[in-house]
Amino acid sequence: MIHPIVKYGNPVLEKSADTVTVFDDELQKLIDDMFESMYAAHGVGLAAPQIGIGRRIAVIDISFKEDPNAKLVLINPEIIHTEGKHTQSEGCLSIPDFRENVTRPNKVSVRAQDIHGKVFEKTGDELLARALLHETDHLNGKLYISHLSALKRDLMKRKIRKLIKAGEW
Ligand code: NI
Repeated sequence: MIHPIVKYGNPVLEKSADTVTVFDDELQKLIDDMFESMYAAHGVGLAAPQIGIGRRIAVIDISFKEDPNAKLVLINPEIIHTEGKHTQSEGCLSIPDFRENVTRPNKVSVRAQDIHGKVFEKTGDELLARALLHETDHLNGKLYISHLSALKRDLMKRKIRKLIKAGEW
C-alpha cells in the first residue's frame, strides 16, 4: 500500500521515533509499504515518520530498483563511525521541490537490526553515506535543513510558510 508522504510542518517529522521491539509480519508489511511508498515518490530513502509512523525504521535503495542487492532496511539504526567530509546537493521527500548543499561525513558506518531483529553493520560512502545519515537523522526528529546555515534555513522556512498560506504545500 502506498502511503502519502508527510510534509514539513507536521510535528511527527520533528519527534524522536520509538524503538522497534517486535519483529513480526506486521513489521514486514510496513517495510514493504515503505519501499512501495518511497518508489512511488521517486525517493532513494524513506523513514517511517515520513508516512506518519513514529517508529525507528528506514528503507534505502540508492540504486532506485536497478540493483536488488541495494535494498537496505534499517531498524533502530545508530551511526557508529564517520569519516571525512563531502558537500553535495540534498533534498527530502518531506520538503519537496527544495534542494540545498549539505556537508556531511563521506564515509559512515551504521549498526542496525534487520527485519528479524538480527544486528548487523553496514558501511557506505558518498551517496550511501549521505542516505544513512539523512534517514537516521529522520528517526531522531532531525531534518537536513538543520545542517544548513541559519540564514539559508530561515529563507527556506519563509518560502514554505508562503506555500502553506497559499494552500500549495
Ligand atoms: Ni528525508
